[in-house]
Amino acid sequence: MKKMGRFGFYGALLFILGLVLASSIGSAHAQLKMGFYSKSCPKAEKIVQDYVNKHIPNVPSLAATFIRMHFHDCFVRGCDASILLNTTSGEQTERQSPPNLSLRGFDFIDRVKSLVEAACPGVVSCADVLTLVTRDSIVATGGPSWKVPTGRRDGLISRSSEALNNLPPPFANINTLRTMFASQGLDLTDLVLLSGAHTIGVAHCSSFTNRLYNFTGRGDEDPALDRNYAANLKARKCRSISDTTTKVEMDPGSRNTFDLGYYNLLLKKRGLFESDAALTSNSASLREVNKIVKGSVKDYFARFGKSMEKMGRIGVKTGSVGEIRKQCGLVNS
Ligand code: HEM
Ligand SMILES: *[C@@H]1O[C@H](CO)[C@@H](O)[C@H](O)[C@H]1NC(C)=O
Ligand SMILES: *[C@@H]1O[C@H](CO)[C@@H](O)[C@H](O)[C@H]1NC(C)=O
Ligand SMILES: *[C@@H]1O[C@H](CO)[C@@H](O)[C@H](O)[C@H]1NC(C)=O
Repeated sequence: MKKMGRFGFYGALLFILGLVLASSIGSAHAQLKMGFYSKSCPKAEKIVQDYVNKHIPNVPSLAATFIRMHFHDCFVRGCDASILLNTTSGEQTERQSPPNLSLRGFDFIDRVKSLVEAACPGVVSCADVLTLVTRDSIVATGGPSWKVPTGRRDGLISRSSEALNNLPPPFANINTLRTMFASQGLDLTDLVLLSGAHTIGVAHCSSFTNRLYNFTGRGDEDPALDRNYAANLKARKCRSISDTTTKVEMDPGSRNTFDLGYYNLLLKKRGLFESDAALTSNSASLREVNKIVKGSVKDYFARFGKSMEKMGRIGVKTGSVGEIRKQCGLVNS
């Protein structure tokens, strides 16, 4: 206590007050937090969860759609619901860009949003609705859970070209994947963990037929794809290189079950995309894959959840940035 002498009691008090003030100003416009709506819309999270629990059991395939939509949202301009904007005039929006392919479920999000709007008009963002719907629908189908701090606000801009530039294509190699994830603040471990979402859902043949029919332009197959698996896909699913309509389960036989199936397939050279196969082409990422396969589902779920939470924080708009959209497809006028 004596040491305080020169600085003085009031000096110390001011210093502490300063620290408290600085940190509260910082967090006021820079951070998400758990239960952000607990005062402004106490029922918000429950409304979302109830709707998901009531409807997702009838359409479990939407869980895959939502987690992919959330990933696409976060990788383009941050998790700000830019993926949900409809094209009105000018450049096409993200949801109209080629990587959208199978994105569905916009109407589901719109219905959840209108329920939340009815309870608390203008309070809960579409970005948070999408993030919560994603987590809750993965949980409703027996997958991992994770924390969803809230307080995201909605962006005003959505551009098709930015989706193309920021989303990794299915033919990306490990260096491209690493670079694209790193520019979002995600590391190699996050890349390996998050790619495991391909344990659920489906892909169109057109996302990978080059691997079956014309890998290097000489009518050849991708040597990184198991030959028997390729033969099977060609005979039963993707009968030509130009098939753009047939859908294939990425983890055959368990497309609605979140498990370690994806990683076991990778080790058998049965990952569907080059980007999946790429994860075993590099010693560091292969080590991660092996670690996951040798571990428990419980451990994987916990680690996957941590990476999802991290992804959900990418470039978020908080405080007074952006807006709370009234309708998820349109910016407020
Ligand atoms: C690592 C880079 C990634 C690439 C190159 C990639 C690429 C793709 C492609 C091409 C499809 C199939 C689209 C179609 O043909 O209809 C797809 C589907 C899917 N992706 Fe990824 N993806 C990646 C990472 C992720 C991440 C991080 C997640 C989520 C955490 C994710 C979740 C999904 C899901 C669930 C589907 C199935 C969607 C459905 O059934 O509707 N992907 N991905
Ligand atoms: C997805 O992109 C294609 C190609 O740009 C576009 O024609 C289609 O309308 C888009 N799908 C949705 C749901 O917007
Ligand atoms: C394979 O690719 C090459 C080079 O792009 C092209 O000339 C050829 O027509 C393709 N073959 C098929 C079957 O699509
Ligand atoms: C967005 O466009 C779709 C059709 O592409 C339409 O069904 C939906 O109502 C639109 N949403 C808004 C908010 O305008």
